[in-house]
Amino acid sequence: VSPFKRDAVASGTYSTGPADVASIDWDNLGFGYIATDYMYMMKCDQGGTFSNGELQRFANIELSPSAGVLNYGQGLFEGLKAYMKEVPPPGKGSLYIRPLLMGSGAVLGLAPAPEYTFLIYVSPVGNYFKEGLAPINLIVEHELHRATPGGTGGVKTIGNYAAVLKAQSAAKAKGYSDVLYLDCVNKKYLEEVSSCNIFVVKGNTISTPAIKGTILPGITRKSIIDVARSQEFQVEERLVAVDELLDADEVFCTGTAVVVSPVGSITYKGETKKYGGGGVGAVSQKLYTVLTSLQMGLTEDKMNWTLEL
Ligand code: COI
Repeated sequence: VSPFKRDAVASGTYSTGPADVASIDWDNLGFGYIATDYMYMMKCDQGGTFSNGELQRFANIELSPSAGVLNYGQGLFEGLKAYMKEVPPPGKGSLYIRPLLMGSGAVLGLAPAPEYTFLIYVSPVGNYFKEGLAPINLIVEHELHRATPGGTGGVKTIGNYAAVLKAQSAAKAKGYSDVLYLDCVNKKYLEEVSSCNIFVVKGNTISTPAIKGTILPGITRKSIIDVARSQEFQVEERLVAVDELLDADEVFCTGTAVVVSPVGSITYKGETKKYGGGGVGAVSQKLYTVLTSLQMGLTEDKMNWTLEL
């Protein structure tokens, strides 16, 4: 069975068998949803008591039209990736794992839902950006903001992603890969990209916006900070002013989905600054290689992150 039967995916009836892994076109996979056999589902009442979860065949789920998640956006999610040493082929894909927690109980007045559903589904994925590992082009957004102090920007709520779709769609329509947001108070300091964190390289110093409630503390961000320090770079978590982009040697993004994505250009108020001469910057390439080699078990894990099963 081809793993690309999206009609069956949409109807929730499609499933792949183990043999299909070999038939996946890893080179052209991208980051679209490909149905897999199973999902995990568990219910939780408002008191925080989870019932026994169970592995189920992957299928559409039933929700009350009055579910908290549909009416008031009560949802959280995460993103993880599983890599195997030989299948999928190293460097050509991974299994993206998406845990989702949502208010599934019915509400009408604004209130926390009386019941929650936790589920996990998975999908084989390739590169997040259509550029693959080639540098992406960002535009700095200085009017629309992703997050506000005291808001939910530092938590992986589904609402954070709905809020960026307008700016992201406008940027994509103009040919940019994604949007880089500024802080909403000073409109001066870098925050993050719609789908990932941002790093700025100058000489041996790598700077990234400090976690202060409006930026997601991504695990890939944290891993890259540790990997960079292990490679003798100086890493600073601080306020990074948008002007520093002009002076930077390299810029790259990090995220579970994007891994390490080099930035080829950033446009701010009509001016475009280019990086890497059209190629991948040396620092981005080094950090990408060190991290992914660890993830795929190709090098000795001196960070002690790998769990042998
Ligand atoms: C991830 O990197 O795993 C995310 O959740 C970002 C999402 C936009 C794909």
